[in-house]
Amino acid sequence: MLENFFTPCPRGLETMLANELNTLGAQEVRTTDGGVHFTGPFLLSYRINLHSRIASRVLWRVAVAHYRNEQDIFDTAYALPWNDWFGTTHTIRVNMTAIKCPLKSLDFATLKIKDAVCDKFRALTGERPNVDTHTPDVRIHAFLESSRMTLYVDTSGDALFKRGVRQYTNVAPLRENLAAGILLLTGWQPGVPLLDPMCGSGTFLIEAALMSLNIAPGISRSFAFEKLKDFDASAWSDMRRQAQAAQKPVGALPIFGSDLYGDELKAAHLNLENAGLLEAVSLNQANVLEISAPADYGVLVANLPYGERMGDLEELQELYPKLGDVLKKKFGGWNAYLFTSDLRMPKFIRLSVSRRTLLFNGAIECRLFEYKMVAGSNRT
Ligand SMILES: C[S@@+](CC[C@H](N)C(=O)[O-])C[C@H]1O[C@@H](n2cnc3c(N)ncnc32)[C@H](O)[C@@H]1O
Repeated sequence: MLENFFTPCPRGLETMLANELNTLGAQEVRTTDGGVHFTGPFLLSYRINLHSRIASRVLWRVAVAHYRNEQDIFDTAYALPWNDWFGTTHTIRVNMTAIKCPLKSLDFATLKIKDAVCDKFRALTGERPNVDTHTPDVRIHAFLESSRMTLYVDTSGDALFKRGVRQYTNVAPLRENLAAGILLLTGWQPGVPLLDPMCGSGTFLIEAALMSLNIAPGISRSFAFEKLKDFDASAWSDMRRQAQAAQKPVGALPIFGSDLYGDELKAAHLNLENAGLLEAVSLNQANVLEISAPADYGVLVANLPYGERMGDLEELQELYPKLGDVLKKKFGGWNAYLFTSDLRMPKFIRLSVSRRTLLFNGAIECRLFEYKMVAGSNRT
C-alpha cells in the first residue's frame, strides 16, 4: 500500500532533495516551497530517514481535510485511529505550522488537536498519553492553510540534521543537512580534494567524509518510527545491516579543514573523533589569508564569518578583497564556493561569480557564490 509523505528541508534545497528521494525509491515526487511530497510504502520512510542527507524530517500524512474553525480541526483529529499507531505509554507533542490561517490563536488550535488525540484514547482505552514538549516519543505535526488542514505523524523524532553523534560547537555552526546540500550543489564528488579554510566545528568536513565513505547519515541514531506499533524490527535491522555492509573502511581522504581559532579546531577535532572520522580528515590551524592549496585542483567551500568574532561589517569588508587575492593567486584550478548572508560580499571580493544559488539558513536569506579560479585571469 502506498502512503503519503512530506519531507521538509532547508529552503533552496528542494530540487536536490527531490533527486535524492527519487534515487532512494520515492514515487510521485513533487517539490514545494520548503520541502518535497512523495508516496511510497511505509518502509520507504525507514530508508529515507536512514539515508537522506538533505531532508530535515520524514512526515507521514495521516489526514487532509477542509476546516473553518477549531471544532472542525478537533473533529478531523478525533476521527483518526491514533490507538492503531501508538499507545498511551508514549508521550506526545503537537507542532503547528500555518500559512494564511484565519484562526485567532494557533496555540488554541494546537491544544484542540492534543485534546482530540487524548479524548480519543480515553474513549477507547480509558487512558490518555502524556504531553512531553521536550523529548516526546511521538510528534504530531499540523499544517494549516487558509481552509485546508493536514496532519502528519513524524517518523523521524529528532530532526535528521542531528546525525546522532555528540556535537561540539562554538559559533554559528551550519546544520548538517544544509552543509550536505551545499556540497552536492558544488558538484564535489568523493575523491576530489576538498578544503574548508574556515571550518569551524567541521560540518562540511564531516558531511564530505560521510559521503566519501558511503556512511548512511542516520546509522548512529534512533528514529520515532521505532516506537510506532507496526514497527517492523526485522526489516529495519536488515536495512541497517545492508547500510553497514556498504560502508568503506575509514582511511585518509583528500579532505582538508583549517580555521584561525584553536577552539574552533578543537571542536572540529572532537566532532570528527566522535564520528570515528578523525583519520579521514586533515586539520590545521591557519589564517585563510595565509593558506596554500593542498592539491593542484579541488573544491574550496566555506561558510564565511558574519557578525561573530572578526565578523563586524567593516572587518568583513577588509577581509573580502584579501580573500579574493588569495583565491586568485593560490587557488588556480580550484572551484571556490562561498556561502554567506552578506550580499555585499561579491562586490568586495572582486572576482567574477559564475553562479549564485539562493538558499536559506533557517530564516536567513543566503547565497552560495561560485568562483571558478583560472590562474591569473579571474579578477574583475
Ligand atoms: C560561520 S563560521 C563557520 C562555521 C562552520 N561552517 C561550522 O559549521 O561550524 C566562520 C568561521 O570562520 C572562522 N574564521 C574567521 N576568520 C578567519 C580567518 N581569517 N581565517 C580562518 N578562519 C577564520 C571562524 O573562526 C569561524 O569558525
